[in-house]
Amino acid sequence: MQKDTCDKFNICGGCSLPLSYPEQIEFKKKLLYSLFGADIPLEASVKQPGYRHRMDFVYYDGKLGLRAGRWDKVLDIDHCLLMPEEANELLSRVRSFVFDFPYYDLKTHQGFLRYVVIKSTLHKSAIQTMLCMVVSATCSNFNALINKLQEHCKKLLNETHHLKSVHFLLNNTKSDVSFGDLLFHIGDRYIVQDILGKQFFVGPNTFLQSNIFMIDKLYSFILSNVNSSTVLDLFCGIGTITLSINKVRDVVGVEINKESIELANLNKAHNNIPNVEFVNQDAFTFLRDLVKGKLKFEKFENIIVDPPRAGLSKRFLRYLNDCEAKRIIWVSCNPKNLAQSIGMLTNYKLSCIKAFDMFPNTKHVEVVAVLDRI
Ligand SMILES: C[S@@+](CC[C@H](N)C(=O)[O-])C[C@H]1O[C@@H](n2cnc3c(N)ncnc32)[C@H](O)[C@@H]1O
Repeated sequence: MQKDTCDKFNICGGCSLPLSYPEQIEFKKKLLYSLFGADIPLEASVKQPGYRHRMDFVYYDGKLGLRAGRWDKVLDIDHCLLMPEEANELLSRVRSFVFDFPYYDLKTHQGFLRYVVIKSTLHKSAIQTMLCMVVSATCSNFNALINKLQEHCKKLLNETHHLKSVHFLLNNTKSDVSFGDLLFHIGDRYIVQDILGKQFFVGPNTFLQSNIFMIDKLYSFILSNVNSSTVLDLFCGIGTITLSINKVRDVVGVEINKESIELANLNKAHNNIPNVEFVNQDAFTFLRDLVKGKLKFEKFENIIVDPPRAGLSKRFLRYLNDCEAKRIIWVSCNPKNLAQSIGMLTNYKLSCIKAFDMFPNTKHVEVVAVLDRI
């Protein structure tokens, strides 16, 4: 994003790369070169503003927006160019009633509304939106407040064609997170993302790649490098990669989040895909038990890993190095961590690597590394 396109330019922290798009690509290429010591092909985003799946707006001290540096300073945001226009329309409609509600006070740990999360997906070339209201019951009049909030959201649902689903999530903990236990929802339970001809249900607390216009490109590259019919997909989320692998004999997806696994199974049934099994477990425990021969599964010839930004732990990498898969496909949104850790896979050599701009206007970049057993 550049100075002339956004009045919150360089202040709100949402966009961290104040450059034109061609300059952003050059910046990321140089970054990748500095990390890997080689030119890495980088696929530019097909859409730069308006690409983002999810935005979390904190509600604090009479403001709805993003934290500008400090945890207790929130910058009011009424429009964000990272989100599709439909999501911005929703944000502006939410802002017309949200300030009537008490905010959750992070100092006293008392209050009601904590976060407003807006999720967008692409289904049949149209944007669908989901609204998540993250609330706390640490206030005296919770029932009256939630009923009033629900009334506003019902009206919104009736009047906004792209808004398909509203979830009310409860976070009574002191943790400042924009997720929560499912209280109830109105409208549809899920929104739908189309990926490579299949349809995936997306939930309020589940992960989807951040650039909804680039998922097909990222996954096409991953899938073009799958060279076996026995595949283990670790950190599988709602099963989007797992279920996109065609002509498989045995595919297993492993994911720690229960809601994601429930959706993965729903997505499997909806897309009518046999030969895929989902396991709700910590990926490290699964991998360790697999290497130790403690599981019912035989060895997998391909292993896909797509961990959260923190990356893979040393003990995880030790087991991965011993897993005997003929190919590992490592999907990473943290290229620095990937570059530092890849050398630990001493039984593998890097066969190819490609980057995808899943995060225009930010310094982040997604990298897929394909490693073959020596
Ligand atoms: C970067 S996302 C990738 C999801 C999926 N591959 C996709 O493309 O949508 C990482 C996923 O790992 C899950 N996760 C985090 N820690 C985990 C763990 N220890 N074991 C298994 N899954 C984990 C998260 O819930 C999240 O769904």
